[in-house]
Amino acid sequence: MIRNYVVTISSEKGGVGKTTLATNLAIYLKALFEDLPVILLSFDNHFSVDRMFRIGAKQPPREYSNFPDVSNLFHGTLIDLLTETGEYGVQFIPSSAKLNQLRRNLDDCTVLAENLAHSHFNGILIIDTRPDLDIFTENALFCADRVIVPVKDAPSLENCRNIYAFFDRHKLSRKSLRLLPCLVDARIRFEGPFRDPYQLLKAYAINRGYRCLDGYISKSPKVESLNTNPDGKIYPVLTHGKNTEVHAQLAHIAKQVYHDAVEEQSRRLDEVRSSQSKSQTQKQPEEAIFRVTSERVSFGLLQK
Ligand SMILES: Nc1ncnc2c1ncn2[C@@H]1O[C@H](COP(=O)(O)OP(=O)(O)O)[C@@H](O)[C@H]1O
Ligand SMILES: [Mg+2]
Repeated sequence: MIRNYVVTISSEKGGVGKTTLATNLAIYLKALFEDLPVILLSFDNHFSVDRMFRIGAKQPPREYSNFPDVSNLFHGTLIDLLTETGEYGVQFIPSSAKLNQLRRNLDDCTVLAENLAHSHFNGILIIDTRPDLDIFTENALFCADRVIVPVKDAPSLENCRNIYAFFDRHKLSRKSLRLLPCLVDARIRFEGPFRDPYQLLKAYAINRGYRCLDGYISKSPKVESLNTNPDGKIYPVLTHGKNTEVHAQLAHIAKQVYHDAVEEQSRRLDEVRSSQSKSQTQKQPEEAIFRVTSERVSFGLLQK
């Protein structure tokens, strides 16, 4: 059984395919490895995850309600109390309209990791992030075993520098970081050694010392159309785009993520746990865990 492996999808550039990758990766992992628990959450505020995974169209949209959502992860609620069983067997945590408010009081990139370290969930947790290295993205990077950075062009590749700098600043291992060329347009051809945008992006990446996942995701009009339809739904590539090359590409990426999770024995959350237990021996339990400045919620008190 794979235990608590965290995959964060991050890029400061919008429109590079983060949400498409995060949501479809969850579905492909579940389709390929039926018994693998897969949890998905997003700090993006577009509610794509909820639209894609919530079962039953008649429920009120969560964005207008006081139901628990991803923002509760920063108030000490454990992950298993927040997950909802979604379509395709994927567990998801409802997205939140309260993140902007929360952002003003949150300045610590370790809060999510400390919460997850107490949760002991099994399987793979996928985190989709905003096109911004904001405090929520930083929290998602800090707890990740694998960070996938979709890049679609030279500017998005240049932006990776900030994610690498975040890793260096926090003394996190760069081994977790992988670039993935996305929205690669096969119609574009170049003269010379790099024949197409995939070859060129990969060469740029390697030249800068960045590691890439094996493979890429093509730009496909069919995949683009899965977001826009009269039903107001977002359809997965697995069910509605099986004839595209993106189908095989996503399956290939999902297999890599799975095998890396199997092969990698160490877990980022284990490191967080061990540094927590060291620091807790020096602190009062009530003060130990959550440092949202407006609301000092103690993990110990919540447990009672
Ligand atoms: N492989 C693809 N081929 C064509 N269009 C895509 C592909 N992946 C994503 N898109 C489209 O690109 C746009 C941005 O994708 P999205 O996943 O929302 O990016 P991000 O989360 O990085 O902003 C969306 O309209 C989406 O439908
Ligand atoms: Mg997005």
